[in-house]
Formats: sequence, structure tokens, C-alpha cells
Amino acid sequence: MKFVLASQNKHKLAEMQSILSAHGVEVVLESEIGLHVDVEETGSTFAENAMIKARAVMEASGLPAIADDSGVCVDALNGAPGVYSARYGGPELDDVGRYRLLLENMRGAKTRAAHFTSCIACIFPNGDTIEAEGICPGTIAFAPQGDGGFGYDPVFFLPELRKTYAQLTPEEKAAVSHRGKALAVFDGKLREYLKER
Ligand code: IMP
Repeated sequence: MKFVLASQNKHKLAEMQSILSAHGVEVVLESEIGLHVDVEETGSTFAENAMIKARAVMEASGLPAIADDSGVCVDALNGAPGVYSARYGGPELDDVGRYRLLLENMRGAKTRAAHFTSCIACIFPNGDTIEAEGICPGTIAFAPQGDGGFGYDPVFFLPELRKTYAQLTPEEKAAVSHRGKALAVFDGKLREYLKER
């Protein structure tokens, strides 16, 4: 079965492919099937935004589509950057600029508690949907560490492992991450869905 991933993000694709391929699900990027759907993420929750993206790509491609909407929510910043994680600080910032801004905004914070959330939405051409969520608690490091992964990975610290996401191998990250957890839930729901057909 082939799913189109409603994203241009190769890192997300790699993480999703490595987990879902084990179950015979092939995930391709929009660009691989000649598609570039520009969707405005107008939802106020990760779940809403994931479904907005998946629906737009399903409608444009006629294929089952899957989307992940994710971000980091920081307690001391009242949940920011949250659904605005990709746009934090404006369009001129890159990944490094965004995590530097986050560190800057955390100066003097009383707590460094944070969590990553991933909401996965999948929609089939017949309108059926599957949704899944995964959360990974952690803290915001005082300085970046590690060079793996993407986005806020160098500053997202896992106290139990004493490492940031960026210091984990892709397999280690998938075992504990918000996306890994959401994909595990998604995988179970997809199996159930396919069994009933
Ligand atoms: P989205 O593409 O709108 O879901 O944006 C998600 C944003 O959240 C990304 O651009 C990253 O900045 C951040 N993000 C999501 N997942 C991760 C992750 O696994 N590691 C680091 N940053 C992430």
C-alpha cells in the first residue's frame, strides 16, 4: 500500500518510512509523485492541522495521504512554540535560528519542562480517516548538544537517557520519540482498519 506524505520534510519521511516499511506500507513524498500542495495550517491544534494537510494531498493525488503535524510545547512559555514550532520567530529563521530563539526566550525560566507532540492523520479516497497521537516529555537543554536529527533536536533533552534527541541514533529516537509513539499507535489502528476490509 502506498501513502503520500503531506510534507516536503525529508527527515519526517525518513522517520516515517523506517517505521511503516516494516509493515509493508510505502510512504512517498509529494514531490516524488510530482505534487506540491501548499496548505495553510489554519487549525489551532496539531490534530486539526494534520488532517487539513492530509485531506488536501489526498484530494490532489487521489491516493491515501498521511500527514504529521508536530511541535514542541514549553511549560515556561505557556505551551509555545506549539503549533507554531515551524514558524517560530518568523520566516527568516532556520532550524538553528529557531532553537537559539527558544534558548533566548528560556533565560531565567523557572522550569525547563517541555514535551513534543506528534499528531498523525491519514485519510483514504473514500473519506475514511485514521488519527494517532504521540507525546514525549523532556526538558529544554541550556545549550545545543549533538548533530543528528532536525529542528529542535539539539535542545530537546531526555533526562532518563541524559541525551538530547540529536544525540540519539535514528533507531533510538524512533523508540522514544513523539513521532515514534504516534506511528506505533497509527500502525495498530491501520492494521485493524485493513483487517476489517
Ligand atoms: P510541521 O511540519 O508544521 O509539523 O512543523 C513541525 C516543526 O516542529 C518542525 O519544523 C520542527 O521545527 C519541529 N519538530 C517536529 N518534530 C520534530 C522532531 O522530531 N525534532 C525536532 N523538531 C521537530
